Amino acid sequence: ADALKIGIAGLGTVGASLVRIIQQRSNALAVACGRAITITAVSARDRNKDRGVDLSGITWFDDPVALAENADIDVFIELVGGADGAADKSVRAALARGVHVVTANKALLARHGVEFARLAEEKGLLINYEAAVAGGIPVIKAMRESLTGNNFSRVYGIMNGTCNYILTRMEKEGLSFEACLKEAQRLGYAEADPTFDIEGNDTAHKLAILTTLAFGSEIAADDIYLEGISNISIEDINAAAELGYRIKLLGVAQRTETGIEQRVHPTMVPLDSVIAQVDGVTNAVALESDILGELLMVGPGAGGNATASAVLGDITDIAKSRPGAQQVPVLGRPAALLEPYRQAK
Ligand code: NAP
Ligand code: HSE
Repeated sequence: ADALKIGIAGLGTVGASLVRIIQQRSNALAVACGRAITITAVSARDRNKDRGVDLSGITWFDDPVALAENADIDVFIELVGGADGAADKSVRAALARGVHVVTANKALLARHGVEFARLAEEKGLLINYEAAVAGGIPVIKAMRESLTGNNFSRVYGIMNGTCNYILTRMEKEGLSFEACLKEAQRLGYAEADPTFDIEGNDTAHKLAILTTLAFGSEIAADDIYLEGISNISIEDINAAAELGYRIKLLGVAQRTETGIEQRVHPTMVPLDSVIAQVDGVTNAVALESDILGELLMVGPGAGGNATASAVLGDITDIAKSRPGAQQVPVLGRPAALLEPYRQAK
């Protein structure tokens, strides 16, 4: 079969890791997918920055939108970030042109996901977004494909690696909040604007996506009770430990008799619970459903390699998909069948 041609917009923490992995594993990927995966185009702001990867022979675009509109590609990979601007415009351009999309951008999907799903489904295109929630943990695939037929009652967990990293190091090493945040930024875990991490918005974006997959309702990221970790002190953490608890930033969504409840806030979890043992950049997502029961998925929640692993899985799924076959609905069910969001009273 012909090679799958991909264009990667964004060569930061995730994009540069992805290029390196695809180049290093090109033979194994070709065997696994039955066709080669070729990077034909890339885009970033600074053409002269050394990104530790070989970009020779790859067409460079300064503008992600120009890449999405003009590059010789089958798949557009959005790793730019931001809910509007270049990310939004480039994804729309790719879909308008009939090109599949892969994105790691939860802020973008939380705002425009339903509209993008409609656009993609009208054209028989895929939008894959495994990396958008809980980094390398394959929770999107589990909910979107593997657990079809289950009725979910609750979804909850630790969905922000930066916050869990900060809380863990504050507790175990007594480091200051500011020092831990700086380190999380240096390691590539934090968002470009880290207030999204520490004020809980990033967890809310992820939770809103999982809520839609769980309950079949339209994405409602603005209807989430939100409280971050920026006011948590070492004294709070120590006081919780003395009482037999650990503080974790949790996102929780559940179905109630009056509607759906979604909240993000620091939570005291018993020291002997599994979720209390989830340390550092690791995430944990618990799914409660009627046929399966409880599933807990634990794994790397942020960082270049973990995130690139999820993006790569999305790309290889497209490489393996049969031309003309019915595509997996973007949000678990066709966008036209999503129900309006009804908030619990
Ligand atoms: P990043 O390191 O800040 O990289 C962003 C890249 O986009 C950079 O290469 C930047 O170019 C380029 N860029 C930004 N604005 C641009 C514009 N207007 N025009 C052209 N290029 C532009 O971000 P990242 O950590 O890789 O994250 C990328 C996406 O993945 C975000 O949506 C993020 O939320 C998501 N994500 C990240 C992680 C993680 O652990 N880092 C995990 C899951 C999901 P320059 O390099 O030239 O500045
Ligand atoms: N900033 C995010 C986090 C990246 O720390 O979890 C992964 O989505």
